[in-house]
Amino acid sequence: MKPYGKFWQEADRGFYLKIHLERMRQHTRFCRWFKKTFLPSEHLPLVCEIGCGYGVFYPEWFESMGMIYTGVDLSQKAIEYCQANHPGEFYCADVTLWNPRQPLFDLVFSQGTIDNTPEMDRFLRTHARLSRQWIYVTAYRGFFPKLKKHTYTYNKQHQCWYNDISPSQARQALVDEGFTDIGTWPLDGETVIIARREYGH
Ligand SMILES: C[S@@+](CC[C@H](N)C(=O)[O-])C[C@H]1O[C@@H](n2cnc3c(N)ncnc32)[C@H](O)[C@@H]1O
Repeated sequence: MKPYGKFWQEADRGFYLKIHLERMRQHTRFCRWFKKTFLPSEHLPLVCEIGCGYGVFYPEWFESMGMIYTGVDLSQKAIEYCQANHPGEFYCADVTLWNPRQPLFDLVFSQGTIDNTPEMDRFLRTHARLSRQWIYVTAYRGFFPKLKKHTYTYNKQHQCWYNDISPSQARQALVDEGFTDIGTWPLDGETVIIARREYGH
């Protein structure tokens, strides 16, 4: 297997602040969707972000609504920063190595991360296995409705991938994991995937 993740291990907090600001519209849309979906309920959802990086914005945003946020990232120094500076639970791990026996969260989400990972279906399936009900995933590199299979390009210098995601292949991976309501949409030139399954599936 090719080495993975050097780029992020080396990136500093400034890089994460910059990419967050560059994708503000995606974050705003996510927040609007989250409030519409979860806030009418009295049950406070448990949320997990995969690829939380330096914890820009989300830990404080969820805390302000009284919710418990969990962030996971490959980068040890990003997670150490989050543990020292943000509310919530933080774990340093490659989530694709996890195979949880039971889902732990109500919502598992990732922002602009899937299209740099070595196996996108596996990455998506980890979201699905960690979630009792909802997943929300954005792929920043584009919307490719006609692509039948994901495509992958490895960058040796960054030690990560630059991929185009196939909405139909992603959808199939989620169907295989028991998700029933699956939407894949273009949004500001990116792909958004929102999927849901019934509790107690
Ligand atoms: C492009 S950055 C996105 C950061 C943040 N989510 C944002 O929207 O600004 C991708 C992040 O995902 C992390 N990451 C990539 N693959 C991962 C994996 N398999 N498990 C955990 N974290 C991963 C990287 O270390 C990096 O911090």
